[in-house]
Amino acid sequence: MSQPSPTRSPFHPAAATDEWWRSAVIYQVYPRSFADADGDGIGDLPGIASKLPYLRELGVDAVWISPFYPSPQSDAGYDVADYCDVDSLFGTLADADALIFRAHDLGLRVIVDLVPNHTSDRHPWFRRALVAEPGSPERDWYMFRDADPEDPERPPNNWESVFGGPAWSKSPDGQWYLHLFDSSQPDLNWENPCVREAFEGVLRFWLDRGVDGFRVDVAHGLVKAAGLPDAAQTTEELQGEGMATSAAPYWDQDGVHEIYLAWRKVLDEYPSDRVMVAEAWVEPYARIARYVRPGEFQQAFNFSFLDAAWDASALRECIEESFRANDVVGAPTTWVLSNHDVIRPATRLALGPEHFASQLGAPIPAPDPALGARRARAATTAMLALPGSAYLYQGEELGLFEVLDLPEEVRQDPTFHRTNGRRLGRDGCRVPIPWQADAPAYGFSESGAAWLPQPARYGDLAVDRQEGRSGSHLELVRTLLAMRRERGLGTGSFDFVDLGTGSGAAAGADAVAESGGAAGSGAAADIVAFDVTTAAGTTRVVLNLGASAWPIPADHRVLVASDPTVTDSVPTDRVAWFAID
Ligand code: GLC
Repeated sequence: MSQPSPTRSPFHPAAATDEWWRSAVIYQVYPRSFADADGDGIGDLPGIASKLPYLRELGVDAVWISPFYPSPQSDAGYDVADYCDVDSLFGTLADADALIFRAHDLGLRVIVDLVPNHTSDRHPWFRRALVAEPGSPERDWYMFRDADPEDPERPPNNWESVFGGPAWSKSPDGQWYLHLFDSSQPDLNWENPCVREAFEGVLRFWLDRGVDGFRVDVAHGLVKAAGLPDAAQTTEELQGEGMATSAAPYWDQDGVHEIYLAWRKVLDEYPSDRVMVAEAWVEPYARIARYVRPGEFQQAFNFSFLDAAWDASALRECIEESFRANDVVGAPTTWVLSNHDVIRPATRLALGPEHFASQLGAPIPAPDPALGARRARAATTAMLALPGSAYLYQGEELGLFEVLDLPEEVRQDPTFHRTNGRRLGRDGCRVPIPWQADAPAYGFSESGAAWLPQPARYGDLAVDRQEGRSGSHLELVRTLLAMRRERGLGTGSFDFVDLGTGSGAAAGADAVAESGGAAGSGAAADIVAFDVTTAAGTTRVVLNLGASAWPIPADHRVLVASDPTVTDSVPTDRVAWFAID
């Protein structure tokens, strides 16, 4: 029946090379909440190592591990006090070596987190800077500025911390220091060549230990506009529709790129494809492509996909824009729905679009759990068919929801405290993983301790409840990953399909654009349909976001569907992959 338009080239044309990261599925482990081997209630590296066979069986290609370095844990490890060691909370360097070795043995790659925008205020570099004279070389590692003699209580400019409140704090001698995040996370001065040199040493330290790459934290923040001018917009305004992130004098400044060109040269000295992935919350999407130009990052997280509304034209627009931008520079597009900073999809997708941004406001209405679960399954099913590289955040494969009702006294995210609870923060997506329904702490830790309390409903979602149960969220994800691999979807080429023409002829993105972003008419406008083609054939994917079910044509054979209600038709909020006979 329908074939992709012969007159237009598809998106994501097959790359000339087959580097692993172009199509990899990468699983994010958040160490403190994954698995606790020593029973102190906080997950650790031996815990992660013990679960690697589970990840292997799940079918992912790589693991990205959030920070496990020595840290006062003011921002759950994103406040690093030593880049070249392991916090005793999580284990030892020998545990890290063993983890890397075991992962490689199982055929899994390992990506570690690099946090270059700021250190902890406990880092020896900052301790040294604090005791040194204003204007000294030691202070020049950070962003210190003199107080205004006329008004010493006024910060050097109007910048706001991402976590709320001013982005400046005072050191004991009255100079201010910049922190785009918590006051315990002073920003480094990337104009200082010593800082650049130090970080190249950090890269080599971990590359020498065998890691396959780095996820680079706040990659869009390292360089600030010369003279540190006032921001013309508030943080809230900057997050508004159509606003370029680079309008803020501290985000997405052109100077960041030379840092990454230098890092990539270091990575390229090592054998076997070491990678960097940028955490860059940047708008418009075309600016992201600058981070993945040849010679810089191999990948950047596609946060526009994570933030897209649950709406067919919004999703089509986002997918098309993402492919267009990345295709220009020959980079794989990435797909991500979840991480340790955002509301879990099984909750977020059942909330209104005002909650789609990454930061939680308070209070949050209690969403419909069945709706959330259905949409989360649909979103994951659609995502894992898309060519390029995909990310899964621990627990996403279980359909875990956001824990909204954590008591105040257990909340640890600095966002909660810096906004006096006006923003709930991110603890609700960081609750420890349920492994066994009937064990203490749901198998997270043998002692039964857990750094955040797990809700009773987590029992039903535990790994052992879902394993082998046909139709469970976990088994769905396993099937999707196996089929994605088998059908080579990660390296396929992509074409939109217009199901609204009646003839079934594929119209592709050009037709989508001509009809003002809506494919076809009527019910088809609420459907996102696309073909992914490889040498082995075409896989058609249909995501129905409309109110009426989409009847499955006779020549469409269901390969996998987001839930068992897909039989003769694809109902609302469901997805199916088809082979076309
Ligand atoms: C990144 C991390 C987040 C952290 C922040 C400051 O956005 O993902 O968890 O709080 O950077 O390091």
